[in-house]
Amino acid sequence: MKNPPSLKKALLFACSALALGAAMPLSYAADSFSADKTTVYPGQTVNVSFATDGSRSDDVYVAFPWSGSLLFLNEQGGIGAYAAKTATAARLHKPAGGTYTVWSFTMPEGFYTTLTLYQVRGTAGTDLLAGNYDPTSLHSVTITFAPTPAPPAPSGKSLYSANCAMCHSADPRADPYQKVLRGANNPGAISSAILNDKGGMGYLSTLTSVEVAAIAAWLANPI
Ligand code: HEC
Repeated sequence: MKNPPSLKKALLFACSALALGAAMPLSYAADSFSADKTTVYPGQTVNVSFATDGSRSDDVYVAFPWSGSLLFLNEQGGIGAYAAKTATAARLHKPAGGTYTVWSFTMPEGFYTTLTLYQVRGTAGTDLLAGNYDPTSLHSVTITFAPTPAPPAPSGKSLYSANCAMCHSADPRADPYQKVLRGANNPGAISSAILNDKGGMGYLSTLTSVEVAAIAAWLANPI
């Protein structure tokens, strides 16, 4: 991978990027910049789009923060090596009206971070890293890369009706054996009935302890 010259420039640009953040200007209204997801989970792909009405004829660049600076994707091909590895993007040459996908990224496992991408208008061949772009055209979009959320807690009620109701009746208060309510708030009573194959319950040993606990909690208030 060639060492992108833009990186060095990005560092030099650090101070002006901070100044840029402080004096956030009004953005150029005829353009918009957005992501199809603001929270992305491992294996999902996020697409960032730029849309314009075509009323302006300079170029569009996409940038992201790098070492406290803004690093422009594909400025004069500067970070092509990075782009080839993780992203497609991102200089649109005098774009006509329409919507363009400027960045597409498939989140790898463990890439837990929040990323803000910026989009500006500038002129091809000028040095964007020196701040040579129209600050009124600046837009940003923030994307959070998060771990896969835990599955929702199992519902005791639905676990009961799927696993217990056929023997103990849909309403546990009407249990023909008059025993199931011993499990109310008492997951141990349920587990030991399963373990000891009480009434042929042994096959329910595939229930997890979290599921058994959810059933026990529901039995305490079975409505
Ligand atoms: C195949 C039918 C069947 C299924 C399914 C079943 N049970 Fe039972 N269960 C019984 C029978 C029969 C008894 C009474 C056994 C006895 O008295 O020896 C019993 C007893 C119990 C007891 C009392 C144990 C004790 O302390 O003596 C509890 C608590 C219980 N079941 C909870 C459940 C729960 C909760 C489920 C669902 C996860 C379930 N059972 C599913 C048939 C079943």
